Amino acid sequence: MGRQAKEQPHHGLGWWEWFTGLLHVVVDVFLQRVRACHLSQRMDLPTVSDLSCIVTGATSGIGLHTAEQLAKAGAHVVLACRNTEAASELVHQWQIDQAQKGGPLLDVEVMKLNLMSLASVRTFSEDWEAQQRSLHVLINNAGIFSMGGYQRFSEDVYEEHMQVNHLAPALLTMLLMPALLRSAPSRVVNVNSAMHHMASIDPEDLSLTSGKRKYNSTLAYSGSKLAQLLFSNILQKKLPAEANVDIIAVHPGEVITNIARRTPKVVQFLYRWSSFFLFSPLEGARSVLFCATDSRVQEYAQGVRSSAYPSVPYFTSSCNPVKVSNQAMDMDMALKIWNETLKLVNLPPDYLDQIFEGSNPSEQHEES
Ligand SMILES: NC(=O)c1ccc[n+]([C@@H]2O[C@H](COP(=O)([O-])OP(=O)(O)OC[C@H]3O[C@@H](n4cnc5c(N)ncnc54)[C@H](OP(=O)(O)O)[C@@H]3O)[C@@H](O)[C@H]2O)c1
Repeated sequence: MGRQAKEQPHHGLGWWEWFTGLLHVVVDVFLQRVRACHLSQRMDLPTVSDLSCIVTGATSGIGLHTAEQLAKAGAHVVLACRNTEAASELVHQWQIDQAQKGGPLLDVEVMKLNLMSLASVRTFSEDWEAQQRSLHVLINNAGIFSMGGYQRFSEDVYEEHMQVNHLAPALLTMLLMPALLRSAPSRVVNVNSAMHHMASIDPEDLSLTSGKRKYNSTLAYSGSKLAQLLFSNILQKKLPAEANVDIIAVHPGEVITNIARRTPKVVQFLYRWSSFFLFSPLEGARSVLFCATDSRVQEYAQGVRSSAYPSVPYFTSSCNPVKVSNQAMDMDMALKIWNETLKLVNLPPDYLDQIFEGSNPSEQHEES
């Protein structure tokens, strides 16, 4: 029996795999500036007035800069946020900036979305569908990392990292699939993390409640990001090439944002202290914007689709495609995560097939 199986029988990582995952993240912190030195501080976008985009978590950090730049490049942008007041304030400020520069009014709106509640995800998506709106780019950016915090649960009683970083965005993606299909070519950009390299996951215990593994926030955060990649592998494979909907994952780099807001003061101090190596949120938004708008991303995704490479296209902060961790390429595990995710968000196992047949499986499943 191998070291991994002996130490962690429940789909865990052995110490060696965990250590190399940690090393991957540490090296990324120190080298990310060098690796991305060909990029300017702000991603230059062409005019994208033909795009209708949703950015989740656009009130802070990477999401804020992503939404602002897309809007200023002419896209129709929906800020999907739980704090709609803060989002409206931001939009007001952007409009003032535009007016001062003599630019046109931005095509931006704010919609309520709280990923801690699957009901909120359903309400958001139903509103979208009721108006038969177009959607070219869905950016699943909103995320949490309650570093050092104790275990908390969403209103759906799922562990909060798993809910906000994986389950709710997965539900959002699935419920908005009809909009993505009718607006194709379209794409979903999942803001993921290099920390998936340190992750271990048990498909039967996504909320870390079975007691088989002790909860800690790093395990919860990295596991949620790995779950998102594994789910995306299957989603990408199930979408036929002619549907022209691409699922992309991106690691934005290690970025100084509000993500560490719940972290103990000493960790926050270290986080700020290492600011020389970390990206600003503007720099963090570059790879997300690249994945959302650049045609080379679609070309790469098409290439991946027709190859045997068993993973969703994954870009890093230098805007280059890179390999995901070995765990994230485990297609047996991916299928388990796919099935479990659909079960937890209350979607039927054949949800996508029914979408392609033109029925509304989401409504039927709720009624049953
Ligand atoms: N920063 C990094 O070094 C880093 C590295 C790798 C990956 N990432 C990923 O990048 C993404 C953006 O993070 P960030 O660093 O920009 O963090 P951030 O500054 O904390 O921004 C996170 C955004 O997500 C929103 N959000 C949190 N919980 C939500 C919920 N329940 N419903 C709706 N929105 C919610 C926040 O809204 P409120 O303002 O209302 O809280 C905020 O707008 C995350 O997915 C994160 O995992 C970040």
